[in-house]
Amino acid sequence: MQFKRKDLLGIRELDVSEIEYILDLARSFKEINERSIKKVPTLRGKTVIHLFFEPSTRTRTSFDIAAKRLSADTYSITASTSSVVKGETALDTLKNLEAMKPDVFVIRHSASGAPWQLAARTTASVINAGDGMHEHPSQALLDMLTILDNKKSLRDLNVLIVGDIFHSRVARSNIWGLTKMGARVVVCGPATLIPPNIDSMGAQISNRLDQCIPQADVIMVLRLQKERQQQMLLPSLREYSTWYGINAKRLEQAKPDVLIMHPGPINRGVEISPEVADGPRSVILDQVTNGVAVRMALLFLLGQR
Ligand code: CP
Repeated sequence: MQFKRKDLLGIRELDVSEIEYILDLARSFKEINERSIKKVPTLRGKTVIHLFFEPSTRTRTSFDIAAKRLSADTYSITASTSSVVKGETALDTLKNLEAMKPDVFVIRHSASGAPWQLAARTTASVINAGDGMHEHPSQALLDMLTILDNKKSLRDLNVLIVGDIFHSRVARSNIWGLTKMGARVVVCGPATLIPPNIDSMGAQISNRLDQCIPQADVIMVLRLQKERQQQMLLPSLREYSTWYGINAKRLEQAKPDVLIMHPGPINRGVEISPEVADGPRSVILDQVTNGVAVRMALLFLLGQR
């Protein structure tokens, strides 16, 4: 198949064949990451700029590693050390960087929709590395790849997403992606952290974690996003942990081959206990490893235009 898009902005706009194509390509890049010399010349002469208006460890580093392993030249701009602090707008920042002739921008922004607005105003390709509470497409793709490393198919799989659904772009991208691929998605958390329209995206809603765990093939635990909570949506972290924390005791009810996932960063002892995060069912670090291969696939597809 030919991948004809200029940008990769959201999972919502991808069809099943595009998702499968990206995942197949990512699988082929996994082997490069196991070599002693982890570099191929595919994007030699291409320039990738990482433009991050929000903090990141995993996404920015793995996009950077991915681009370098494809031999692209890369530059990282973080808002806090750029002229954004002097009042320059995101669009002016983009246009000035565009004048230096990059091929791909990888953009993270706290405003939902910002990568779409910026992509419409540049001839370079744009990859959304997370926009506000909206989408995080490369995370959903690496999550699907990690599930498929362990399960035969996404079709008819029961995926339980637990925690702060309201503020989570990871939840939204995964609901769109996983339901497209035939999985059943249940979101579970306190009512204050579940957006009212989430069922229209194809997810079922539950507030009762202990009833959901026995059916789950995958439990995706989300971080409590304290930085996006303007008002007290929870009585206390201790209470949240008691009702919605994933711990070893709770997992006694789970299927023996349940996968435990978390996009990171983790609040240890809040949404997930250390013995589960580091335990035998956890594939959290495999998600991080797969992030490089997925991002190589995305840069390969967009960087060669
Ligand atoms: N999963 C994720 O987006 O992590 P970072 O915020 O560290 O990039």
